[in-house]
Amino acid sequence: MKISIFGLGYVGCVSAGCLARLGHQVIGVDVSETKVALINSGRATIIENNIDELIESAQKSGKLEATTDSKKAVLNTDVSIICVGTPSSKTGHLNLEYIYKVAKDIGLAIKNKYTFHVIVIRSTILPGTDNVVAKIIEDVSGKQKNIAFGMVSNPEFLREGTAVRDYMNPSFTLIGSESEAALNIVEKMYKGLEAPVIKTDLNVAEFMKYVNNTFHALKVTFSNEVGNICKVLNVDSYKVMEILCMDKKLNLSSYYMKPGFAYGGSCLPKDLRALNTLARDNYLDVPVISSIARSNELQKQKVLDIIISKNKKKIGILGFSFKEGTDDLRESPIVDVVERLIGKGYDIKIFDKNVFISNLTGTNKEYIEKKIPHLQNLITDDIKYVIENSDVLVITNKEKEIKDVLMEEKLVAVNYASGSHESYSECGNSELEDKIIIDLVRMDEAEKNIAEYDGLCW
Ligand SMILES: NC(=O)c1ccc[n+]([C@@H]2O[C@H](COP(=O)([O-])OP(=O)(O)OC[C@H]3O[C@@H](n4cnc5c(N)ncnc54)[C@H](O)[C@@H]3O)[C@@H](O)[C@H]2O)c1
Repeated sequence: MKISIFGLGYVGCVSAGCLARLGHQVIGVDVSETKVALINSGRATIIENNIDELIESAQKSGKLEATTDSKKAVLNTDVSIICVGTPSSKTGHLNLEYIYKVAKDIGLAIKNKYTFHVIVIRSTILPGTDNVVAKIIEDVSGKQKNIAFGMVSNPEFLREGTAVRDYMNPSFTLIGSESEAALNIVEKMYKGLEAPVIKTDLNVAEFMKYVNNTFHALKVTFSNEVGNICKVLNVDSYKVMEILCMDKKLNLSSYYMKPGFAYGGSCLPKDLRALNTLARDNYLDVPVISSIARSNELQKQKVLDIIISKNKKKIGILGFSFKEGTDDLRESPIVDVVERLIGKGYDIKIFDKNVFISNLTGTNKEYIEKKIPHLQNLITDDIKYVIENSDVLVITNKEKEIKDVLMEEKLVAVNYASGSHESYSECGNSELEDKIIIDLVRMDEAEKNIAEYDGLCW
């Protein structure tokens, strides 16, 4: 494949060497004549393990050359990869001037190009940037996105120091686009790498680098705060973190990593309070750990705000304990939301098949008696009753009964769509038809329902 690479800095130099090694014909483009001259004399533009040999052999074999002439580079290639810098502006925003300049250069070049051209943004950019770049290219070239050219987001995850190894052995290659044709071309470009290619939405790909890097930063600061607490307690922080990382089921796993409602229950809130208090007693500032509970409270407030925004007074809560399959109400986040709704005069009905007031004992009973003493009058195990008597339904867990009702409704929706009206009565009542659903757990069965649907953070 013939590939032009805009920007011969860290990412561009490594990409150029590695893509040439994968067998492609590469033209590097940079505004710096020094960098162009370095590449054309077989030398890398950066200091990095294994890069010198890679660039030297690519240039010697005729697979790699460089130029300052962007037009020539675009006209002689099928794919252009943008690797220019995206530094922070003084206000902390992204400075996209280099990206936009390259977009103009590419637009000017493809004005005179009559084969499909793929533009890949490898630089780190925020969601929406590909579309702005496409608009610039459209304006300058007079050509249309997805017809004359396609945009692909392909974030770079390499680490300096191990950049070549990371490039050749990534966890995966991520590509996002609105154009299937462009996606397929870029997928082919990475043929030869062992790693799987993940194809996704354009804006998902654009966002991933930020989420990854924020998560990495969070892991570093969390580990440091745990270490600081360990030190004052004379506990070996390395042993602690080593054991934490050994749990691949709950700790280093996708468990707990789904956007949705607040955490709750008898352990997490209590144990976080204890750890924060311990840190405070030892005069330790742990801003990451101490802001977790505040973030959790904000998520409850968000649910309350969404419910209030619907301007309906009759609210049905589907699921009341802190998670499905239990009757434990202690610090269940929805209990807090309901308590506040009651305070505001809302008419509440609650379905939970596991919670029977007469069976509650111990601290669970004490907790709910303090919070909502008249719960008996609000709660039932009859989901249909709650649905019938509510305008807004809040789904808080994935209990089978809740799924079943939503599945029934989906069937009705499908039959309506296919015009098969007769089967309406066989498939259940369209009970949810005029309801508003607020989904806190992203239940697939709810999302495509005929009712007005609102997800908590999706
Ligand atoms: N360095 C890393 O480890 C790393 C890792 C992943 C992602 N990224 C991202 O990749 C992007 C590039 O980072 P980098 O470290 O390679 O930057 P860099 O500053 O090392 O290189 C950018 C290059 O682009 C060139 N350039 C600027 N304007 C140009 C134009 N109009 N035409 C052609 N070339 C032009 C510059 O001369 C420079 O050589 C950034 O968005 C960065 O956030 C960097």
